[in-house]
Amino acid sequence: MKNRVAEHIAVLPKSGIRDFFELVNSMGNEVISLGIGEPDFVTPWHIRESAIFAMEKGHTSYTSNLGLLSMRQEVCKYVDKNYKAKYNPVSECIITVGVSEALDLIFRAIITPGDEIIYHEPCYVSYAPEIKMAHGVPVAVVTKEKNKFALDPKDFEKAVTPKTKAILLNFPCNPTGASLTPEDVREIARIAKKHDLIVITDEIYSELTYDGKHSSIASLPGMKERTIFLHGFSKAYAMTGFRMGYACGPADLIDAMMKIHQYSMLCASIIAQESAIEALRNGKTEMEKMKDEYCRRRNMIVKRLNEIGLKCVMPKGAFYAFPNITSSGLSSKEFATRLLQEEKVAVVPGTAFGECGEGYVRCAYATSFEDIEEAMRRIEKFVKKLK
Ligand SMILES: Cc1ncc(COP(=O)(O)O)c(C=O)c1O
Repeated sequence: MKNRVAEHIAVLPKSGIRDFFELVNSMGNEVISLGIGEPDFVTPWHIRESAIFAMEKGHTSYTSNLGLLSMRQEVCKYVDKNYKAKYNPVSECIITVGVSEALDLIFRAIITPGDEIIYHEPCYVSYAPEIKMAHGVPVAVVTKEKNKFALDPKDFEKAVTPKTKAILLNFPCNPTGASLTPEDVREIARIAKKHDLIVITDEIYSELTYDGKHSSIASLPGMKERTIFLHGFSKAYAMTGFRMGYACGPADLIDAMMKIHQYSMLCASIIAQESAIEALRNGKTEMEKMKDEYCRRRNMIVKRLNEIGLKCVMPKGAFYAFPNITSSGLSSKEFATRLLQEEKVAVVPGTAFGECGEGYVRCAYATSFEDIEEAMRRIEKFVKKLK
């Protein structure tokens, strides 16, 4: 049979990170990886214990398609307290398999083929492919180092066309660590209202904000009815393997997402949901400890990269540094490949996060302080050798 794979899937490139990490994995454990965007911490014990307890109690069934009501109540309480946006747990919240599933659901729920979704680049690797898988058209707006990778709302407005359906935000940002000022958030809200757009806001790194206060666009007047607020447990609570996320938003959009979720996923794992309830109720202390450690690492890695001559903007949140490597004379891919082969340090080429990532690499500081110090010594040696 010809054309066995659907055309729009056949043309999708594989993730740039995936290929690279196949190479890293083949190199054994002398490699220091600043590559993967995953906390090096194990999930706090009280959360793991709640998973064991759920199983002991025999809580092994399906849940409501939307997720356990007790979890949705806990989520809505948390979102109200921390993001100043009130949602009804019965109709305005859905529990998903990570933020990944929530993204897929909202794109499939709102995109009629050909609709455009505007987002900022460099960005999380999945955004453009997920939009395309939902038959949408991704429209990237570039954020620049000279503006500390902050989004200029004017650039967003210039990208709006009659086909624009939604704008997608991710602050603090993977891979740049940039955040938005309250003025920028207000300006983006104004643009969304003026052009009648949906706003999808991926706030998965929001707890990991080190400078200033995180503010959510969902909290602004008139925004709740057009905003889908996405969040999850992978990063702040070090719960990647639990695959827990959620979306809060207007009832019509949550209902549309629920239909897709119901037919494709049914529900998220009950064991993971019970653990996530524990994280929301009692996870703050452990989470703050991890955050303090990320902040300590951030200050060190950014200082060291700048000393080495790889200019690096101070990230405001998340756990990534995004240094400019153009002084090395190498492309992002050459830099990452040679650094791995010659000094056994894994970083991700900036181009994995969009074409405008050329000239940069992403260094995740979700690895131990000592390993980051050693990685910086190796990078220094590598850069000196190039001169
Ligand atoms: C910006 C962003 N959104 C979403 C995700 C997916 O997270 P989850 O583990 O909740 O599916 C990631 C993971 O790296 C991410 O960086």
